[in-house]
Amino acid sequence: MSVIKVAILGFGTVGEGVYRTIHSHAEELKTVLGKKVEVAAILIRNQEKQRNISGDVLVTSDFEDILKLPQLDIVVEAIVGKESPHLFLKKSIERGCHIITANKEMFAHHGAELQKLAEENGVSVGFEATVAGGIPVIQTIRHLLKVNRVHQLQGILNGTSNFILTEMREKKQSFAEALLQAQQNGFAEADPTNDVEGFDAFYKTMILSRIAFGDEPNWEDVERQGITAITRELIEAAETYGLRFKHVAQINIKEGELKAVVKPVLVNQDHPFYHVEGVQNAVNVRSDIVGGITLQGPGAGMFPTASAIIEDLVFVCQNKLADVPKTTGFVSDDKTLQGEQEYWFVQGVTEKLPKELTVVDQSVAGFCILKAAKKDLIWLANKEEVLCFPILGEIKLIKEETLDSVAVS
Ligand code: HSE
Repeated sequence: MSVIKVAILGFGTVGEGVYRTIHSHAEELKTVLGKKVEVAAILIRNQEKQRNISGDVLVTSDFEDILKLPQLDIVVEAIVGKESPHLFLKKSIERGCHIITANKEMFAHHGAELQKLAEENGVSVGFEATVAGGIPVIQTIRHLLKVNRVHQLQGILNGTSNFILTEMREKKQSFAEALLQAQQNGFAEADPTNDVEGFDAFYKTMILSRIAFGDEPNWEDVERQGITAITRELIEAAETYGLRFKHVAQINIKEGELKAVVKPVLVNQDHPFYHVEGVQNAVNVRSDIVGGITLQGPGAGMFPTASAIIEDLVFVCQNKLADVPKTTGFVSDDKTLQGEQEYWFVQGVTEKLPKELTVVDQSVAGFCILKAAKKDLIWLANKEEVLCFPILGEIKLIKEETLDSVAVS
């Protein structure tokens, strides 16, 4: 029986998870592929650190040593940063290797180029692990929704942020305590700013956009906010209204153009994301034939990410050629144009408001729910003492009065 030789770049949480899974699932891999999968080499940074790696594996901090191996079939990349991993993967493709990456920042920047290069070299690119951890969302959209025209995607795409919001609500933890726990569990990025300021979710959103729509919005036009402004006080007030904070990425088509936004929103219990808790991620795909589908599962951590990579390993072996991203053409979904009324959760309103803004509920002092078009709310949202968060979907009206007659105190 011939052998498939794999190199793993990086031996952090993800790299180690892949190494251990290749061993724990050796029989399954052999059955599916008809070949034994062997880890031939591992790229590490610190030679001094103790690691549990078998003696017959080349452990090196020089990528060129790996390229010189007599047989190398697949390179799995799980390192931090974007320029070195990009270069390593380019060289791997040119050597004729399939590549698999978990690096969303690198892939958001260089994915299109790597896929083109792979196509020219007759090899495949696996990048399931770049988005939503263990959820097979990329393969689902690429291979199981080929004819459906996707018109909207919503996703909880950062496990660390969702974990922090859940811990703050359920266990009354502070932001710092919850973040530390996410780091200890191996969920957070090396620099957790990427998680809590929305950069990680932003990169994942751009990758998903290319898969679902064959294109991505201008990065500069994407509104990106993290969860650092969300306090326990906000979380508790929202809960009184039956709402939960979620950090959500949304892509849809407005006036023929792709628009994306990545920021904290509120959902009520009718929304599929309401019960998505802890490190779980979820992706809701809306398309013309099937309607709405929600995929949910663990969004970060050693084995969920290893799962995505191991399934990609089978995918790249079975698909000799890099496949071109699904392109559906745009279907307009202009439901939330500027003039369309939406619901908002607002903190810090102290003055009378114009009648374009409808108070839906103001039963918690200092917080209210308004119904308003975005264009009518902007002046209020721009005030320093006011915080406004959109509520996704419809909410049940408890009462509806305009602020023309009712002052919010
Ligand atoms: N830091 C990322 C997250 C890891 O928390 O979602 C998975 O991409």
